[in-house]
Amino acid sequence: MKKLNDIISPISNELQQFEAFFDQTMKAETEPMDSIMRYVRETRGKRLRPILVLLSAKLFGEINQQTFSGATIVEMIHSATLIHDDVVDDDDIRRGQSSVKARWDNSTAVLAGDYLLAKAMLMLVQLGDFGIMQEMLHTAASMSEGELLQNQVIENIDAIALQAQHNLPTDINQYLDIITRKTAMLMRSCCAVGALSTNASSKQVKEISDFGLNFGLLFQLRDDILDNENVEMAQALLPSYYEKTLKALEGFAPSEITTALRDLTVFCAEREG
Ligand code: IPE
Ligand code: MG
Repeated sequence: MKKLNDIISPISNELQQFEAFFDQTMKAETEPMDSIMRYVRETRGKRLRPILVLLSAKLFGEINQQTFSGATIVEMIHSATLIHDDVVDDDDIRRGQSSVKARWDNSTAVLAGDYLLAKAMLMLVQLGDFGIMQEMLHTAASMSEGELLQNQVIENIDAIALQAQHNLPTDINQYLDIITRKTAMLMRSCCAVGALSTNASSKQVKEISDFGLNFGLLFQLRDDILDNENVEMAQALLPSYYEKTLKALEGFAPSEITTALRDLTVFCAEREG
């Protein structure tokens, strides 16, 4: 399995440009919001979602300002949901460091997450593309639904699946519904937004979105296995989503970008952390 840094070499310059734009856009007008935003930037994650946006754009055309805006919007929505998630789950550690809610407090974290969501909406309006607005805001709404659904059912799901085998298909469908909403739809939107920022045809947008959805499911299945959550179901489902994700790339002409997308899929399925 290749290292993430090597996988993304075809877009490493553009990823640096994204970082500069993201830094600029995350600035807040007042304290303490600006310090919180700086902390969020300093405790950055893998940047998988902006990477998906950039790769999806470069697959069909040139990475441009609209691509960078799209990448910023998805990373803002992602950051907001993580900040809120740590309040909901009462988690003090995020990305190996104090979560926003631990470093400040719950109310601060709720407001910082809201701020990021509002900034993302502002950027969407500035982009002025109703298709992208609809895609992103529908996804953002579904993510909240997915989290709430998860809080209601998922703690019991492994136990139910084990105790009543005849319930298994329903439980698996419910599990897939949850991980679709909370993780995979954003990955799908990343690919859609990247492709839409170029002259990709609607067929191409659909094809790369389909890859993104399967990629997101695969990502969450591996994440659950690593986190020791829903392990039985995640292990049972992972091989078929691994295959589906790779298969979704077969329609594209081979290039360094399809290679990167394939390597990223392998990275997601086989990563240890
Ligand atoms: C974590 O996603 C949240 C899930 C959807 C499981 P990532 O693992 O992509 O988070 P960062 O941005 O790299 O920290
Ligand atoms: Mg959580």
